Amino acid sequence: MADTRSRVWSVAGLLAAATLSSGLLASAAGAAESGTAETAVPPIVGGEPAKIADHPWVVYLTDTQGNQFCGGTVAKANKIITAAHCVNGDKPEAVQVVAGRESKQNTDGTVAKVTGIWVHPQYQDANSGSDVAVLTLGQDLPQQPLAVASKDDSALYEAGKTAGVLGWGATAEGGEASETLQKAEVPLTSDADCQKAYPQYKAEAMVCAGFPQGGVDSCQGDSGGPLVVENKLVGIVSTGNGCARPNAPGIYTRVAAYHDDVQKQLDS
Ligand code: ARG
Repeated sequence: MADTRSRVWSVAGLLAAATLSSGLLASAAGAAESGTAETAVPPIVGGEPAKIADHPWVVYLTDTQGNQFCGGTVAKANKIITAAHCVNGDKPEAVQVVAGRESKQNTDGTVAKVTGIWVHPQYQDANSGSDVAVLTLGQDLPQQPLAVASKDDSALYEAGKTAGVLGWGATAEGGEASETLQKAEVPLTSDADCQKAYPQYKAEAMVCAGFPQGGVDSCQGDSGGPLVVENKLVGIVSTGNGCARPNAPGIYTRVAAYHDDVQKQLDS
């Protein structure tokens, strides 16, 4: 299940992370890596705890043991949008969706079974695009779905627009996953800037978000989760070079580009 996840995990521990630290979500792990554990790296740089009640459509995926490994978005009562790289090759029985639960440590909300996994037929790996999947659940969730950006929503993708990203992933590059839902706000990057950072960037399949100086980002374990502009799902956490590094914005699946394929799955 985790080509990109394991790949990026192994990149851990660069100098920039130690000095800038951070992430949607940052913690002291960057400092720990540089041998200065317990120095004063703020537990969260740029991100902050978020309330599930304010973002009812954000969910997380677990394995059968209940270990969280990705995020997702409720797009219809029984359909979840996530990243292809989160579930590619998985059997539906291997994945569960947890909705309505802010903290991994409690039992709020619903643990829903997955009965079907659709991975975009063009998906190969996160670096080549089509990093989108739709899960069908064995039950309807009470959570309000989030609207999915379509071709008519190009204004939502303008460079500089503020986007929200949510997840339970790592709070620093190479760090541990968060116990509670975190949220960060990041500006969308222009195609030119993202292309500069990533030669593999495909504007028709991806969108980037992050500050030039880094410091705020999604990170490992956030994959599959939502990037939101004006209450629409515009992106899916996909990949990136480390987390929150300068001049290395997060790469997100450009949801509007896949709207029609996804809508078919939502209607099926
Ligand atoms: N691939 C990662 C995952 O599976 C997400 C990485 C996001 N990286 C970033 N710099 N925004 O959880």
